[in-house]
Amino acid sequence: EKGGYDYFMLKEIAEQPKAVADTLLGRIDASGSLTLDEVRIPGAALREIDKVVIIACGTAFHAGMIAKYAIEHWTRIPCEVELASEFRYRDPILDPRTLVVAISQSGETMDTLMALRHAREQGSKVLAICNTNGSTIPRESDAVLYTHAGPEVAVASTKAFLTQLVACYLVALYLGQVRGTKWGDEIQAVIRELSRISREVERVLETMEPVRELARSLAHKDTVLFLGRHVGYPVALEGALKLKELAYMHAEGFAAGELKHGPIALIEEDLPVVVVVPSPRGRSVLHDKIVSNIQEIRARGARTIVIAEEGDEAVAPYADHLIRIPATLTLLQPLMATVPLQVFACELAAARGNEVDQPRNLAKSVTVE
Ligand code: M6R
Repeated sequence: EKGGYDYFMLKEIAEQPKAVADTLLGRIDASGSLTLDEVRIPGAALREIDKVVIIACGTAFHAGMIAKYAIEHWTRIPCEVELASEFRYRDPILDPRTLVVAISQSGETMDTLMALRHAREQGSKVLAICNTNGSTIPRESDAVLYTHAGPEVAVASTKAFLTQLVACYLVALYLGQVRGTKWGDEIQAVIRELSRISREVERVLETMEPVRELARSLAHKDTVLFLGRHVGYPVALEGALKLKELAYMHAEGFAAGELKHGPIALIEEDLPVVVVVPSPRGRSVLHDKIVSNIQEIRARGARTIVIAEEGDEAVAPYADHLIRIPATLTLLQPLMATVPLQVFACELAAARGNEVDQPRNLAKSVTVE
């Protein structure tokens, strides 16, 4: 049932190109328009929305953090992302013009369910992004956009995350389409890029052997730090979460711009630091800034593990280990950049002799608050 792989997690990582393609299937037509028939919230109501609030936990929360960048950039609707477990306890401001998006692989996470119930009580519409047909969260939502990742068995979420990202991009684009905001060349370019993204994820998977070797060589370490900016920041958090869950290591993700506000004090000789580098095109200011972050930490002795796009030559001199990913649009980069971090955590956990599919103390779905 593991299809020749040692772990379900490896199988599920390998299934990502198909999962991504399946989640897109039938949702973008030949003219580049989105048809999300499942989103049965009327266009008139969607046009009235003045705020999007995303609620989720764990990996799904990281997908939500990335969705915020896409939603605000493509639709100009303000978007907040909140841990579902924190949400209802702080009396959040919600009304019928708030669209709440609940992201959950299992559809059974109690924290997310309680948060969405609270939102509906306040009159907000709830759209679920979910991987499990007929589960509780979609049943209690106004509408659901299913991710088509197929069953995810490993406790650590991988293909569900990539498909959550795709679903979030689709929701953002759909809101833009319905509301007519910024619906132009940039959006068409995004849609074209999404249509080829599954092949690009496949290419990432084909180049993972050096990442495995690197992971094995770090199996004795106690700490790994992860840095990113913009959508690379949630990717860094996700890389750190995977490592905590699977390798039981101290792993922390930071926004690279925060380094000098504290975390740089942690940098010491030979500390592995993974840096997710934004695309050098488009947002070159951010790119330049992260290159100086890499220089700063390397000058303090860190071992730099740099995830950068093909053709990005500026980072090469400062990378002790360089992991290449295909170039893509800035907002879509997490679909590429997350994959090596999944492989890294999986291999490191295996090298430490841990149960990869069933990490200690964790359950696949968390049905208590
Ligand atoms: O089923 P859900 O997406 O609601 O689960 C949310 C989190 O419990 C989940 O993503 C968890 O963080 C994973 N173990 C991460 O790998």
